[in-house]
Amino acid sequence: MMMNSYKILFCPFYCFLVLLLSGQTGMQAEARHLNHHLLTKLFAFGDSYADTGNTRKGEGGSWIEPYGITFPGKPAGRWSDGRVLTDYIAKYLRLKSPIPYRLRKKMASHIKYGMNFAFGGTGVFNTSSSYPNMTIQIDFLEQLIKQKVYTASDLSNSVTLVAVSGNDYNFYLATNGSIQDFPSFITSVVNQITTNLIRIQKLGVKKIIVDGLQPLGCLPQTTVSSSFQQCNSTFNNLVLFHNDLLNQSVTKLNQENNNSIQILDLYDSFMSVLNDSLTHNIQNSLKPCCFGVSSDYNCGSVVSNEKKYELCDKPKSAFFWDGFHPTQAGWHAVYSKLKATNVLHRLLWAEGFV
Ligand SMILES: *[C@@H]1O[C@H](CO)[C@@H](O)[C@H](O)[C@H]1NC(C)=O
Ligand SMILES: *[C@@H]1O[C@H](CO)[C@@H](O)[C@H](O)[C@H]1NC(C)=O
Ligand SMILES: *[C@@H]1O[C@H](CO)[C@@H](O)[C@H](O)[C@H]1NC(C)=O
Ligand SMILES: *[C@@H]1O[C@H](CO)[C@@H](O)[C@H](O)[C@H]1NC(C)=O
Ligand SMILES: *[C@@H]1O[C@H](CO)[C@@H](O)[C@H](O)[C@H]1NC(C)=O
Ligand SMILES: *[C@@H]1O[C@H](CO)[C@@H](O)[C@H](O)[C@H]1NC(C)=O
Ligand SMILES: *[C@@H]1O[C@H](CO)[C@@H](O)[C@H](O)[C@H]1NC(C)=O
Repeated sequence: MMMNSYKILFCPFYCFLVLLLSGQTGMQAEARHLNHHLLTKLFAFGDSYADTGNTRKGEGGSWIEPYGITFPGKPAGRWSDGRVLTDYIAKYLRLKSPIPYRLRKKMASHIKYGMNFAFGGTGVFNTSSSYPNMTIQIDFLEQLIKQKVYTASDLSNSVTLVAVSGNDYNFYLATNGSIQDFPSFITSVVNQITTNLIRIQKLGVKKIIVDGLQPLGCLPQTTVSSSFQQCNSTFNNLVLFHNDLLNQSVTKLNQENNNSIQILDLYDSFMSVLNDSLTHNIQNSLKPCCFGVSSDYNCGSVVSNEKKYELCDKPKSAFFWDGFHPTQAGWHAVYSKLKATNVLHRLLWAEGFV
């Protein structure tokens, strides 16, 4: 009690007002603060929106210039010029960004902050990538639990990020392509995400953040056909269908599990940043910073020592980095939006955790 009155005494007027309005007594605030610090680990599953270095060097992609030029200053396995979603979620939790699974032996002292099992290019199902799909990624965590690398209390004090950013759909379009059958494929993707979420919960994880799909119709890989002028509403409507199904599915799981899963709405957050990009100091909303000189080339393509890509002067002023991924500035703006929606806050303080 002493502690609480002390805090209130030194709380300026507006701060006191905020406490009153939000219905938080000093004591609740204190308990919640303590709670926050019990979250000691972040795990991540999924694809390039979460991957921080699991794919092998020498395979191109995120390991070639100019990837990583903003952070850490050279290519390091992140699919951007700098930080990605996992890094921002870790920052929110005040944790170090979890080490890639691939580096668990090299950087053993970092295992205590959690681990990143995400591999760029993968989906919940097989895709053209030869890296492990999400089922196998979850197997990796299961093995580490069997090996007692992580204990039950580690898991119950952790947050897990699940990033599914559309590789299943890219693969479907490349191999099957029927727009008519797309809705039924979306249903099977969301069912597989749901199966994965249940499995992660059964491993003992109490708090899960799952990405709602970003507007695929606004990604440069799609908007290139309109010279980066407008989003494709056909694709965006399919994304909204995916997100709707995911919402229904998670709502149902949460009724049984104390709201332990929160959806990170990348659709709304991307859209609102793209719609109001100047507020975030972003001049180029749809045009990517780094792009192949023709459709045969990608960001980073080099042929006989000749660069086959164009790079913008200021990655800080672009939302998109390449055909599929936001820049660090883009992720930062999305993160700011997400923080404002309180979804991360709700996850941390969801009932049943105390
Ligand atoms: C994931 O990959 C494994 C092995 O490659 C495969 O057996 C399994 O069917 C895949 N899972 C899904 C859901 O496609
Ligand atoms: C997924 O790919 C693996 C090989 O990488 C293969 O063994 C497996 O059968 C595939 N599973 C499905 C469901 O296609
Ligand atoms: C691909 O399309 C055919 C019909 O065009 C359909 O029967 C099949 O189920 C589709 N595959 C997937 C993975 O949806
Ligand atoms: C959106 O993409 C689909 C599939 O590629 C295409 O058929 C359609 O014309 C595009 N729509 C717009 C508005 O560009
Ligand atoms: C599902 O959507 C409704 C309406 O937008 C929203 O209030 C609710 O929080 C969403 N549920 C989840 C689990 O995100
Ligand atoms: C974009 O901004 C306009 C005007 O402020 C608003 O009417 C529209 O709903 C916004 N769209 C999105 C996707 O936020
Ligand atoms: C949900 O919360 C209640 C009360 O806080 C607790 O008794 C119960 O075990 C929790 N259920 C799950 C599945 O975590």
